Amino acid sequence: MTEPIVSVAPGVLEGLDAWRDLPINQQPTWGNTEQLARVTSELSKLPPLVFAGEVDQLTDRLARVASGKAFLLQGGDCAETFDSATADKIRNRVKTILQMAVVLTYGASMPIVKMGRMAGQFAKPRSSDTETRDGVTLPAYRGDIVNGYDFTPESREADPNRIVRGYHTAASTLNLIRAFTQGGFADLREVHSWNKGFAENPANKRYETLAKDIDRAIKFMAAAGADFDSLKRVEFYASHEGLLMDYERPMTRIDSRTGNPYNTSAHFVWIGERTRDLDGAHIDFFSRISNPIGVKLGPSTTPDMVRRLIDILDPNRIPGRLTFITRMGAGVIRDALPPLLEAVKGTDALPVWVSDPMHGNGITTPNGYKTRRFDDVVDEVTGFFEAHRVVGTFPGGIHVELTGDDVTECLGGSEMIDEATLASRYESLCDPRLNHTQSLELAFLVAEELAVIA
Ligand code: TRP
Ligand code: MN
Repeated sequence: MTEPIVSVAPGVLEGLDAWRDLPINQQPTWGNTEQLARVTSELSKLPPLVFAGEVDQLTDRLARVASGKAFLLQGGDCAETFDSATADKIRNRVKTILQMAVVLTYGASMPIVKMGRMAGQFAKPRSSDTETRDGVTLPAYRGDIVNGYDFTPESREADPNRIVRGYHTAASTLNLIRAFTQGGFADLREVHSWNKGFAENPANKRYETLAKDIDRAIKFMAAAGADFDSLKRVEFYASHEGLLMDYERPMTRIDSRTGNPYNTSAHFVWIGERTRDLDGAHIDFFSRISNPIGVKLGPSTTPDMVRRLIDILDPNRIPGRLTFITRMGAGVIRDALPPLLEAVKGTDALPVWVSDPMHGNGITTPNGYKTRRFDDVVDEVTGFFEAHRVVGTFPGGIHVELTGDDVTECLGGSEMIDEATLASRYESLCDPRLNHTQSLELAFLVAEELAVIA
C-alpha cells in the first residue's frame, strides 16, 4: 500500500478486513498457507490495474444509465482461462462487443457503456466442493486463478501461485484492451473492418448494411466539416465477479487523493447469487469499496431483500453506485421481476437494472452438453423489457456470456445450431457462450426494444 497523502478516516483500514470474521462461501482450501501469505503480500505491492479516476468516471456513466440516458453492454467469458488470453481471442471478443455497441448506439440513438467480463474473470463459484468421476473424488475446478481443470489430484489442488499469475494475465489482457480501444482499432470509421474474418450469415449481412449507413453518415459529416475526435476511441471498462477474497482484498488500495478504498483489480465487480448473503463476508467487504458494484438477483429474491441490499451497499444513494443484475429464467421473469422493480420505484434509490439472460436458462442435452437455447435468452431479454414497461422503470442494460469465436455452445440462432452440432466446437470449460453471430443477433433485438423507448 502506498503512503496516503490524505489521511484515512478512522476505522477504514480495519473495516477492509472485517469480512475475515464473517461467514464466507465459495473460497478454496489452500493447502500451503505460508505460501498463500507470501502471495497475497506480493500482490498487495503490485501496481493497480485500474485507477480511481477511471472508476469514478464509470460511476458517473452508470448514473446516466440509472436515469435512462445511456445503456450498459456487459459481455465476455463465463470463465476466462490463462491459455485463452491470446491476442486473437481478446481481439475477437473486443470486436464483437464493439459491433454490438455499434448496433445498439445506432439503433437506439443512445450512448452505450461498454464493459467486458474480461481481465480478471478467473474465479468460479461451484455448486459442490468436489467432483466425482468414475468413483474418483477430487476438489471441484474453481477457475484458473485457483486450480487446474485437468482431473488429476495435482491439477485440482488449490495453488496460491495461480493468484499472481491471474494478476499478470489480467494485466496483459487489460493492456491489449486499452491498446485496441484507444489506439485506432475502435475508430468508428473502422466499422466495416470489425466484421472481417467472420463467416457470412444473415446477422453479418444485416451488420454490413448498418455499417454502410454509418459510413455514409460519417462521410457526410466529414464533408460538412465535423470534428471526429469522439469517434476515434471508446471508453471500455473491465469487470469480473468479486469472488476470491485472496485476490480482491490485496488489490484493494487507499486512493491517495481521497483516502477512500478502491478495488484496483477492475473498474466494476459484482457479487454472485451464491455469495450475496446479507450477513456474509462478501457483502460486508464490497460495501466498503468505492467502485460501482453489482449484485446478481435470482428468482428467489424478495422485495425486502432488495431494499436491504440497497441500504447496506448504497446507504448514501450515490447515483451509479449500485447495479442489480437479474437472472430469472425466461419462464419466470415476467412474474418475478415486476415486484422487485415496484419495491424500489418511487424511493430515493435509483439502481441500474441489468438483464443477465444466460444464467437462468441453462439446460443439459441428452448427449451431455451444458447449453442454453438462444430462443430462451431472447425471451428473457424480451421479458425484461416488458417488465420495465409495465412498472415504468428503465431497462438499463444486458449482461451476456459471449465469445468472438465461432463456437457451437448455445442452441439455435440463425445458424440453427442443434444438439448434434454442439460437439463440433464446444470449447467452454464452464457455461455455454453466445458465439459471434448469436451476439450480433441479440444486439439487433435489443436495439429494436430500445428504439421504442428512446
Ligand atoms: N466514442 C463513441 C462511443 O463510444 C463513438 C464510438 C467510437 C463507438 N468507436 C465506437 C461506438 C465503436 C461504438 C463502437 O460511443
Ligand atoms: Mn457463467
